Amino acid sequence: MKRLEGKVALISGTARGQGRAAAVRFAAEGALVVGGDLLHEGAVETQRLIAREGGTALTPGPLDVTDEDSVRIWVEEALDAFGGIDIVYANAGAVRFEAIDTQPYADFAFTLRAELNSVWLTARAAWSHLVRSRGCILTVGSTAGLSGSLTNWRTAHSASKGGVIALTRQLAAEGAPYGIRANCVSPGMIDTDGFRANLLAQDHPMRDIARHIPLSRVGTPDDVVNAAVFLTSDEASYITGTNLVVDGGWSTVLPGAAH
Ligand SMILES: NC(=O)c1ccc[n+]([C@@H]2O[C@H](COP(=O)([O-])OP(=O)(O)OC[C@H]3O[C@@H](n4cnc5c(N)ncnc54)[C@H](O)[C@@H]3O)[C@@H](O)[C@H]2O)c1
Repeated sequence: MKRLEGKVALISGTARGQGRAAAVRFAAEGALVVGGDLLHEGAVETQRLIAREGGTALTPGPLDVTDEDSVRIWVEEALDAFGGIDIVYANAGAVRFEAIDTQPYADFAFTLRAELNSVWLTARAAWSHLVRSRGCILTVGSTAGLSGSLTNWRTAHSASKGGVIALTRQLAAEGAPYGIRANCVSPGMIDTDGFRANLLAQDHPMRDIARHIPLSRVGTPDDVVNAAVFLTSDEASYITGTNLVVDGGWSTVLPGAAH
């Protein structure tokens, strides 16, 4: 028996990175995947990858998780196709890094909309259907939501990801009476297209910081997706409101010289 057999799973941000890895893996675990992304072509390519492996996936149309109507239509398309929703994996996000004294307010607001408001909109749109299925929500936080950084100036990102972790706990509280579980997975530094373009770029100081990750490597999308499969499967049926950190130990140790 596959771990997500027959579950209808909405996953946002499936064009690339962790979202693509999640869509491919969830389908391999037997889920019926409903993907979506602003980068629609990429999400359709993910759907093709899944179909080639014999999995089931649907990508209804371009998805903008910051737009209330777009999210509502996405949920309706999933219901039309599969008749219900069991898992919502709010993965999509976009960020603008800058120091507080130079960051335009518009960039702070952009990041909050893309990383926090989007999760709330997605959870709300799917909520009544999760009540029916006694389903679950998985959000994506970050170690940025847990601690500050001397290297990466990111007030907007820290605020939004801290907000996602707090929002998830409240979703767990409000969902418990209906049998809805809500959990968060918080990646550390993961090698994806989005992060390779900025934090992991050759000349970025975060690249140097990455050498000090206790488990001696930057994470992969699959490292995060392994945790996601567990948290959304029935194996985690007694787990709600948690924040599972996937960071190679990065956030748990103080800076220091390795032996
Ligand atoms: N990569 C890391 O190191 C890292 C660390 C901590 C947390 N995260 C989080 O993991 C999640 C996935 O990030 P990733 O690393 O795969 O990044 P990525 O940039 O490679 O992928 C993000 C995807 O989300 C899509 N997206 C962005 N805004 C959207 C919108 N408004 N509507 C629909 N789709 C949208 C993008 O087009 C892209 O396909 C994000 O929430 C990110 O904040 C990443």
